[in-house]
Amino acid sequence: MPSLSVFGAQWGDEGKGKVIDLLADRVHVVVRYQGGANAGHTVVVDGQKWILHLIPSGILHPGIVNVIAAGVAVDPITLLGEIDGLMKRGVDVTPRNLRLSASAHVIFDQHKRLDALNERWKGEGRIGTTGRGIGPCYADKASRTGLRIGDLLDPAHCAARLRANLAEKNALIERVHEEVPMDVEELVSRYTAVGKRLAPFVTDTGAELRAAWRAGKELLFEGAQGVMLDLDHGTYPYVTSSSTGPGGIPSGAGVPPQAIGRSIGIAKAYCTRVGEGPFPTELMDAEGERLRAAGHEYGSTTGRPRRAGWFDAVAMRYTLSLTGADGWVMTKLDILGGFGPLKIGVAYHRDGERFTEWPSHLSSFDGLEVEYEDHPGWPEDIAAVRRMEDLPEACRGYVARLEELVGVPVVMLSVGAERDAVLSRGL
Ligand code: IMP
Repeated sequence: MPSLSVFGAQWGDEGKGKVIDLLADRVHVVVRYQGGANAGHTVVVDGQKWILHLIPSGILHPGIVNVIAAGVAVDPITLLGEIDGLMKRGVDVTPRNLRLSASAHVIFDQHKRLDALNERWKGEGRIGTTGRGIGPCYADKASRTGLRIGDLLDPAHCAARLRANLAEKNALIERVHEEVPMDVEELVSRYTAVGKRLAPFVTDTGAELRAAWRAGKELLFEGAQGVMLDLDHGTYPYVTSSSTGPGGIPSGAGVPPQAIGRSIGIAKAYCTRVGEGPFPTELMDAEGERLRAAGHEYGSTTGRPRRAGWFDAVAMRYTLSLTGADGWVMTKLDILGGFGPLKIGVAYHRDGERFTEWPSHLSSFDGLEVEYEDHPGWPEDIAAVRRMEDLPEACRGYVARLEELVGVPVVMLSVGAERDAVLSRGL
């Protein structure tokens, strides 16, 4: 299998963890290149559930190298907790199978604190972040006031930079937010200790990835969040703070664009979104409640109920064209059993104008109406089906229609949480 990028083609939570886990034993290296512990990638193996926030989903396969690259915002305390949690459940995590970039930026307690305070400050205009400090950490990175993993390894240097960072953050906390400042020396001693524990994993991951690629090894780039949450191309300002699609790989992982190979988008057979922001096909009624309950649509990182709605072919066509996806994996198709008629969003309308392409230029989505196409549902439970020809006819028709509307082939269907609950169509 050539190297490939697996990314979220909707608003996140598409089921990327499962697909990456499934593909991991066909590659040598799995790489996280952006985002942080705002992600919650769920993998189910032999009835056991694993939720990974920072460690790549290849960790459950012996012999795979897992890389947390420079573009990731790393909360080192969460990372150590995740390593300890995996070890306790019998998964070996060593510097042989986990590599951490010295250039990745560090999320400190002050970033999480400011994430919450900024949301409070915004009030009605809040984003509904995961509270994991993502925005404030990437803001420090862009302002060049952040610390990187490599800085944690030199206690004197780390202490000096952390004190400087906290001086500014405490001024904000005290004078703008009128809250109790952070204890600088407690943070300095805690984080310098963390650096010692992480040191064996730290390396120049970009150099290692380029060498692996040149040597013909296959790399799998594990996207987090979804393209509709991309900092530049998503529903700004209701987005995360990184480049979530394959476009984020070269800079985030430190590899040439040619190293990406194929790109595969992951999308549910319907849509969900967690947090605030535009979601044209959202169901605000009992049907939405039913979909949320059927799909267990509660955040794996925050436990928040996800907003649920019909498949949005306009948004999906946009994310697949933006990323040049070669194919896509449709997940959670089993959840739609018993629903119907199913609706598919095919265009938007506002003020007499019809949009068949994602209207990125609009500053607000207020008043946008969705044009739907109806599709017959199917009453059967398809969770045990493993071949296309065994799917109910209406279900096959639904898949074919979505493929036609988005113009990119479905290369795999997922009908359950377990590794083997898939129908392969070339992937
Ligand atoms: P942040 O990334 O925590 O700053 O949150 C920004 C927006 O992205 C919020 O709407 C979050 O709910 C959303 N978000 C961040 N990470 C994820 C994810 O992994 N899945 C789904 N939504 C996410």
